[in-house]
Amino acid sequence: MRTDIDALKVIDLNRKFHDEVEAEQYDTRMGVDYSSEGRERLVGELERVLGGPIEPGTLALDLGSGTGKLAIILSLLGRHERVVAVDVSERMLAQAERSAARLGCRVETRVSDMAVLPFEDRSVDLVVGSAFLHHLPDPVALMKEVRRVLRPGGRFVFVGEPSRTGHVMAETLKAPWVALVRTLRVLRGRPARGWEHDHIDVHTFTTSDMRRMSEGFSDVRFVAEGFADHAVEQGFLVLVRRVVGGNRVADAVLDGIRNALLFLDHRFFDRVLPPGMLACVKLSGARPLDG
Ligand SMILES: C[S@@+](CC[C@H](N)C(=O)[O-])C[C@H]1O[C@@H](n2cnc3c(N)ncnc32)[C@H](O)[C@@H]1O
Repeated sequence: MRTDIDALKVIDLNRKFHDEVEAEQYDTRMGVDYSSEGRERLVGELERVLGGPIEPGTLALDLGSGTGKLAIILSLLGRHERVVAVDVSERMLAQAERSAARLGCRVETRVSDMAVLPFEDRSVDLVVGSAFLHHLPDPVALMKEVRRVLRPGGRFVFVGEPSRTGHVMAETLKAPWVALVRTLRVLRGRPARGWEHDHIDVHTFTTSDMRRMSEGFSDVRFVAEGFADHAVEQGFLVLVRRVVGGNRVADAVLDGIRNALLFLDHRFFDRVLPPGMLACVKLSGARPLDG
């Protein structure tokens, strides 16, 4: 994890980037899938990292919820009375509200920087999050906030964070496409977009980072997964979806490709590669009963 970070700049650029660029395109570009298979796949992933079923409770939070993927899936699962999506980007959360309304479920939203979570001490049963820790100036400080708001015995589960391998893989595979898109913009007389991505994606994670972040929690589980899915998704499918995403047939074909890659990862790469070579790191834990 980096420490040379200008916290205000990182938070501000994340808010702007997700408001101005990602909100409109995120679900299509990322192939967010609320079909029954898509929901089962995500619940299965959360439960695999938790090491057991998602227990029923009163309040669940989805941190860095963006367009609401995990919040919506938890709400549809129906094991919590309230599900709240927290994010610094108002326009990402507006998409979450639209998707929840379309799918007929209830998700509350809170626009907030995660440094201070707008919830009482010991008031939350479950905290989930996907692909958000790598955007935070200080993920260790966030974990202290998570511990504060969880009730004793309450659990957290975070998925979709990049390892060093995952980050290098994604950046290398994306580089030719990014160069092509930039060149086409310039040739068409449009200004090249100057987003400072090293202030948006600020961390990659190792096992020892995960250990530091889970200090003070019990039942900690660390899982590293993914190789082929990550490579093809980041290097190819994300860009293909920009062109054909939203078309029913294309979406079905792309989902089929992803399912085949996930199968290959679970059956082969996750088993044979050392954890340091896998692309995504995932973490779960609990607030100790006596803590
Ligand atoms: C890559 S998106 C992930 C969205 C969603 N969790 C998913 O997996 O589809 C990261 C999200 O984190 C949010 N974010 C980044 N920094 C944040 C901060 N300091 N506080 C709250 N949200 C933040 C961004 O606005 C964005 O919506």
